Amino acid sequence: MAAAELLRQGQIVAIPTETVYGLAANALDGAAVRKIFEAKGRPSHNPLIVHVASVDAARQLTAEWPPEADLLASAFWPGPLTIILPRRAGIIPDVVTAGGATVALRCPQHPVALDLLKLCSFPLAAPSANRSNAVSPTTAEHVARSLGGRVPLIIDGGPCAAGIESTVLDLSGEAPRILRPGSITGGQLSEVLGREVLTMRRTEEAQGEVPERPAPLISPGLLTTHYAPDTPLVLLPGADLRRMIQQDSREHDSAPPVGLIIYSEELRSQAGSLRDKRIVEMPAAPAEYAQRLYAELHRLDSCGLRIIYCETPPQEPAWAGVNDRLRRAAQNG
Ligand code: TXA
Ligand code: MG
Repeated sequence: MAAAELLRQGQIVAIPTETVYGLAANALDGAAVRKIFEAKGRPSHNPLIVHVASVDAARQLTAEWPPEADLLASAFWPGPLTIILPRRAGIIPDVVTAGGATVALRCPQHPVALDLLKLCSFPLAAPSANRSNAVSPTTAEHVARSLGGRVPLIIDGGPCAAGIESTVLDLSGEAPRILRPGSITGGQLSEVLGREVLTMRRTEEAQGEVPERPAPLISPGLLTTHYAPDTPLVLLPGADLRRMIQQDSREHDSAPPVGLIIYSEELRSQAGSLRDKRIVEMPAAPAEYAQRLYAELHRLDSCGLRIIYCETPPQEPAWAGVNDRLRRAAQNG
């Protein structure tokens, strides 16, 4: 595979995974990994996820591999779960972990990513393949639009099945803690572990917004400006949405149109009567919603809209990943 050869030579390659497309480099080659940061415009204090082909490969990179990591890996790997553990000294260069004492590990499920990892004899550091702070790519075309010209090769593996980034679980502390919700839920994790799994509290996340203090961040990627489209996005409960749209079209008669993301049966049945034409009807189940979310944000973002109104999804655990990404998308709103 040409991709494996480029990676061996210290180049970067955009690859499909089941969550979002990743921008990969040899995780053991500091100079190669720095090319990822350059291409993305990513701040150097934000560590990368290291992708591995197997539990054995993951174990090599950690100082300790606790029994709980085995439980999680057998339940969810290959798959959209990233596990953070103490890092083994002297293997992964500092640029990957932003100098931190831990390393984030994931074995991806996409056949192209897995084949590539097996072909390479080294792990792959890979963040999402987009310019820093933009919406993540779920197709090769999204990658080309965001990073085209900055990456020698983009492998097209079709649209991503999960559609939002992996669940990030910190196993390096006393209690397991979710740093980033994803399609694998806290409930699923605590069922496998047989104990409570903590989630980030909004107050802790809010501290991440203070730009002068990158060092104490638990997970720098939790900066809330992440994942935002350029078009302002406003989240509103379904009940308020219709009223808001009608008021909006009265106040801005000849202004650029607004976009609308809805999912509930109630609003879908009214969609025809709404004045707005850029209506995205999303599936009412969280996995299908997540799968389409970024593609719809990319599409709406290129429509020259004034604003995107989005119906707030159910505030239920199964929707945690979707709600997290929508809250971040709404930071510009
Ligand atoms: O699904 C995914 O996870 C995708 C695909 C490509 O695998 N990757 C991805 O990478 O979303 P990225 O870099 O966009 O997000 C990684 C997140 C960031 O929020 C980063 O701060 C956090 O994981 N992270 C990485 N290493 C960490 C560590 N040692 N401790 C805490 N957080 C870490
Ligand atoms: Mg990202």
